[in-house]
Amino acid sequence: MVSLIYGGYRYINYKNSINYKLKEIGYTEEEITIITDKLNSNNVNILLDKEYNDQIALIVQEKYFIENKLDVYVNYRNENKDYTLKEVVSIVNANANKEFYTDIKETDTSKENLMLVNKFNYLEKDFEFDDLVPISLKYAYSGHRIREEVLENFIDMWHAANKIDLTLIVNSSHRDYDFQEELYTGYTNTHGKAEADSFSARPGHSEHQTGLALDLSAYGSSIDDFGVTEEYIWIKDNAHLYGFILRYPENKTNITGYEFEPWHYRYVGKDVAKKIYDLDITFDEYYELFIK
Ligand code: DAL
Ligand code: ZN
Repeated sequence: MVSLIYGGYRYINYKNSINYKLKEIGYTEEEITIITDKLNSNNVNILLDKEYNDQIALIVQEKYFIENKLDVYVNYRNENKDYTLKEVVSIVNANANKEFYTDIKETDTSKENLMLVNKFNYLEKDFEFDDLVPISLKYAYSGHRIREEVLENFIDMWHAANKIDLTLIVNSSHRDYDFQEELYTGYTNTHGKAEADSFSARPGHSEHQTGLALDLSAYGSSIDDFGVTEEYIWIKDNAHLYGFILRYPENKTNITGYEFEPWHYRYVGKDVAKKIYDLDITFDEYYELFIK
């Protein structure tokens, strides 16, 4: 008798358990183990009110999965079935699941060298660091300025490259709002707005306004050819040692909003540059995960 009552309670308790309910919805034992391990009970409870979804257990195992974005990943996944889950998580983490240039915010410039300027974060027209210094003609074509700390590190990188007979040269550096506006307007006139947006920032949205970005070429060759030079082969795996990151990598257009730019390097300091290089993620994602 005692054991019957006890057994009855156990059965009722089991029927009320989250595991049982998940099973009823259609989740497998394996999925249940993963889901209950990765999600807090509030989020598991939310799943109990929804239909079975075979993506949940997979999404929660993604390396950069952020729990409070679960719904956004699931919705974005439904709308973009041709993206891998890794891409879905990266895009959502960088907030790039929204249409570019919508829901834009002012850049938090108090983050200094780690500020984020992209299609969702803009600089005021008059933003400028007050320690921009000229870059000498040894390192740049004429008329370039950059933040002092960036120049010091660029010079170190330049000499390291030069030791092995590679010569880098700065093609573009700090650009103020008006100059970016001129460039962008010129591109939209010649290429149309959609194409211009794929390679040029709108005024206020260019990293060049920060004084933390440099466009480089190999001395004597066009910037358009930088991606096939010895200089590029060297810099892509060495820039981080001097505090720079390749800001618009290949195959990351969905996250950064720009085509591959082998020539554009962004200064973030050595520690962060090494982390971004090692993790192999974009600055847009890194900012959302670790800086914001
Ligand atoms: N080409 C980069 C995206 C810029 O215009 O800032
Ligand atoms: Zn650039």
